[in-house]
Amino acid sequence: MKIAILGLGAVGRGLLEVIDEKQLDLVVTGVADSKSAIIDRDGIRIAEVLEAKQRWGSLGDKTLGAMEVVTRAEYDVLVEVTPTNAQTAEPALSYMKSAILLGKHVVTSNKGPIARDFRKLHELAVAHNVQIHYEATVAGAIPIMHTLRHGLAGNEILALYGVLNGTCNYILTRMAAEGLTYDQALLEAREMGYAEADPTYDVKGIDAAIKLVILANTIWKKQVTLDDVDITGIDLLTTDALRLAEDQDCTIRLIAEMVPKKDLLRVSPRIIEKTHPLVVDGSLNAITLETDLAGEVTLIGKGAGSRETASAILGDLLAIRDSYARGH
Ligand code: HSE
Repeated sequence: MKIAILGLGAVGRGLLEVIDEKQLDLVVTGVADSKSAIIDRDGIRIAEVLEAKQRWGSLGDKTLGAMEVVTRAEYDVLVEVTPTNAQTAEPALSYMKSAILLGKHVVTSNKGPIARDFRKLHELAVAHNVQIHYEATVAGAIPIMHTLRHGLAGNEILALYGVLNGTCNYILTRMAAEGLTYDQALLEAREMGYAEADPTYDVKGIDAAIKLVILANTIWKKQVTLDDVDITGIDLLTTDALRLAEDQDCTIRLIAEMVPKKDLLRVSPRIIEKTHPLVVDGSLNAITLETDLAGEVTLIGKGAGSRETASAILGDLLAIRDSYARGH
């Protein structure tokens, strides 16, 4: 199967590395970063591209851009991993739409377009008989979309509770364990590469709310938006508040909640017992699903990171490859 990749930040690079390491029968025929691109119908030399990117910061051909890769490369699946824009969803949205119109499948880690325009993209994909997958948009390496779509297919999801932002979880863990101030812990989270380019998205709960919207639209099959989520961040939390919680054998976590029957969509800091399955440490994410048949299921794993996100993207790519093999 031939793929083209847009975006060569941590996620795109991690994906190229993993494809190079494993024999997965995936041929990369186009790659674009923000300034340049390479197209090669026989397959680009991945090691050379990664080295050029590291050495010179770009790929080579500055006369080509992402849209040229979309329209001119020979590929079956577009992997869209450019930086996210929660307001306009652009330019990622245009890349994805163009690829779908050309009859290509799309796999993305881009939260903006999926949170804002999933329904439209899904309908466009159905109309053009292609698939759109977005496992990597929510909770990094945790296979939540595959779990919902396959493992728990047939279940009714009665409620979902999640720790969906690694930056906030890291900050809360460090404040409670080491007594760091909020600012010190945030600085560390930024240094570790967990935070968004603008970390107010993390600490004000917006990133977790975007992920909740994506989950809600997947589970409810309708279009909720960020405006439907009641959001409180962790930016006003003090070390004292955490200490008070700890005195009661509890701690504080930023919890995203969705209870369809109550029309509840909320992200807020919650006092929670330390033994609760959602109390995970550091940049981990966790999701508890309450279902009618399977009962309670909790998934825990790394919420961010280059190879962890590559794992989620590969899962989507191989699902498309397998559906090819079955003739779909
Ligand atoms: N800033 C995000 C987080 C990255 O901290 O969870 C992964 O979406």
